[in-house]
Parts: sequence; structure tokens; C-alpha cells
Amino acid sequence: MIRPTTPDDTAALIALADAIGFEPNELEVLREMLSDDLGGNSDSDRFWLTDDDGEPVGVAYCAPERMTNGTWNLLLIAVQPDRQGQGRGTALLRYVEQTLMARGARLLLVETSGLPSFERTRAFYRKCGYDEEARIRDFYKAGDDKIVYRKALVAQEQ
Ligand SMILES: CC(C)(COP(=O)(O)OP(=O)(O)OC[C@H]1O[C@@H](n2cnc3c(N)ncnc32)[C@H](O)[C@@H]1OP(=O)(O)O)[C@@H](O)C(=O)NCCC(=O)NCCS
Repeated sequence: MIRPTTPDDTAALIALADAIGFEPNELEVLREMLSDDLGGNSDSDRFWLTDDDGEPVGVAYCAPERMTNGTWNLLLIAVQPDRQGQGRGTALLRYVEQTLMARGARLLLVETSGLPSFERTRAFYRKCGYDEEARIRDFYKAGDDKIVYRKALVAQEQ
């Protein structure tokens, strides 16, 4: 079941991020972001979704791009390693898209690395209908490009 993330998910989502290779400083940033957004005092449009299969096994996080008309960023999508490759990421991303379309969003962007080790992640976005739109050479570090994928959000046949 995909549902809004709650503060009770925090420990499981930190463990998930740890399992997919987040560095300790990145885990700390993630903890702060969850605390800021789920604390009840946030008035932002950002949203988090949890894929719950008895316990959190996936997460997605989206934020609007400021000063645009309906452009959003997918800032995180991750599935627990032992549950990857079972269609969960695709279902989660589709749920994100439907949530955004219900909010009148127009475009969804997502960024990832151009390194060979990220090929499966890039294949995932391509299979979900995202096109490579831009490449910032040497963005993350020398030899490590940033690739921006783009999808226009339009209602699809079920
Ligand atoms: C990328 C990710 C969210 C995809 O979710 P998923 O549930 O594994 O993907 P699905 O089962 O819906 O789709 C499978 C397709 O995704 C791609 N894929 C990417 N990573 C994969 C993985 N680790 N295992 C299996 N398929 C993967 C493949 O193209 C696969 O298609 P195939 O079965 O024809 O080879 C997930 O694998 C993940 O969390 N990876 C690590 C974190 C990451 O890279 N996040 C994105 C950047 S923040």
C-alpha cells in the first residue's frame, strides 16, 4: 500500500537509505528533512510517500520548483534492496505522477548521475517514460555528469 509518510516511518526510512548506500552525512540530512516536513508545522507543498508492505519498503519525495508554473522535482525514490526489481518503484513513481496530476502539475524532473554504475537507475527512468533532457558535464565531480530526465504529466490510459 502506498500512503503518505508519517513520523513513525522515520527510523525505517533512514535504515532503507542506509541500505542503498547513503553516506552518514546524507542520512543526517534525510533525518532533518523528514523532521522538517513531517513535523506538522510545515506549510510547504513538498510531499513524501511510503510504500508499506507491513513495514516501509519504499519511499518517494517530491518538491515543487519555485517560480515555475507546475514544474516539480522528484528528489528521492528508493526501494529496499531485497524488494527491488519487483515493480514497486514503477508503482511508486506512477502514484507520484497521479498525485501531482491531481494537483495540476505539468512537468516532473528527476536528476541522476551519468556514471556507468547508475545505468540501472537511468534505465528505470527511461522505462517509466522519462526522456534525457539535459546533461551537466562534470557536475558531481570531474567525470561524473548530472543527467536531468523530464516527463510531461498527462493522464494515461489505465
Ligand atoms: C531505482 C529503483 C527506485 C527502481 O525501483 P524497483 O522497484 O527496483 O524497479 P521496478 O521493479 O519497478 O523496475 C525494474 C526496472 O528498473 C530498473 N532497475 C533499476 N535498478 C534496479 C535494481 N536494483 N533491481 C532491478 N531493477 C532495477 C531496471 O531497468 C528494471 O527493469 P528490468 O527488470 O527490465 O531490468 C530501485 O531499484 C532503487 O531504489 N535503487 C537504488 C536507489 C536509486 O538508485 N534511486 C534512484 C536515485 S535517488
